[in-house]
Amino acid sequence: MFFALLLTSLRRFFSLAGRSIWLGSSVVEQGPEKPCVGGAIPSPATKLNMGSLIKTNFRLTKNEDLCFFRPVSWFEPLRWEEVFRSKKDPRISRSKVHVDLGAGDGGFIRARARNHPEVNFLAVERLLGRARKIARGAFRDGLDNVRVLRIEAAYAVEHLFSPHSITSISIFFPDPWPKRRHRKNRLIQPSFLECCARTLRLDGWLMMKTDDASYFEHIEEVLGKCKTLQRWDGVHPEILLPEKTDFERDFLKEKRQIYFVAAKPIVSRNAERGICNLRNHCE
Ligand SMILES: C[S@@+](CC[C@H](N)C(=O)[O-])C[C@H]1O[C@@H](n2cnc3c(N)ncnc32)[C@H](O)[C@@H]1O
Repeated sequence: MFFALLLTSLRRFFSLAGRSIWLGSSVVEQGPEKPCVGGAIPSPATKLNMGSLIKTNFRLTKNEDLCFFRPVSWFEPLRWEEVFRSKKDPRISRSKVHVDLGAGDGGFIRARARNHPEVNFLAVERLLGRARKIARGAFRDGLDNVRVLRIEAAYAVEHLFSPHSITSISIFFPDPWPKRRHRKNRLIQPSFLECCARTLRLDGWLMMKTDDASYFEHIEEVLGKCKTLQRWDGVHPEILLPEKTDFERDFLKEKRQIYFVAAKPIVSRNAERGICNLRNHCE
């Protein structure tokens, strides 16, 4: 029994170490790209550093800790009911989950969470200082529906989010990596978008914004080739997500152009039929 458990843990450790995750300091190798299909664990351009992964035992103040979520296991999909268990009243349950990837200082997510107390909001941010700031702000504002996860966004999407469990995802002003040789570091990559599509509910959606024209071109190109997401034209962020991010406020002051695109999962006929059956059954 003991040896079987040891073997499973070792297998898991080496299968992840062979991939690539990044959590904050040095960088390890990158795994081969694989498409993200069904429940299979893919390997997008995430970089994993097992040393930093273990260093997730960082210190927080008591108030910050209330808004942070630190999974017991970094290798299993999260259970939203655990992540968002209300600190005020454990009977409260909200079914919608919005995930903000690269949440920065959290201005957007806090404003959105205030306006939508019926939705759960997860801020994913890899920089500890920024993640702590989001948590402090959420605590100060008394937001029981916000949690902060300090981790690399692509790793979270790939390994920590269950299929079809997220209502909406925002990726606002991801680091543009303007130099050609650095472009491989951009968060938006084909396999990353496939993973996002997999985690979205069938009626879910994703929105991306950037002020960088070349990054936007890249996003449009990757999205255009994505087989599991389709552009959702005819929707405007002012209507869908009117709250501004911290970077956006600055860019607007500087009168910089802001590019955006929204997308929805491509729903197969069978899946659609599944939804209809479910609706008929419930009505
Ligand atoms: C340019 S800032 C934008 C922040 C925020 N979305 C806004 O609009 O104000 C990008 C943020 O994403 C975070 N970030 C960049 N790459 C990330 C990654 N791979 N995983 C998680 N966070 C990331 C950075 O630390 C930074 O806080």
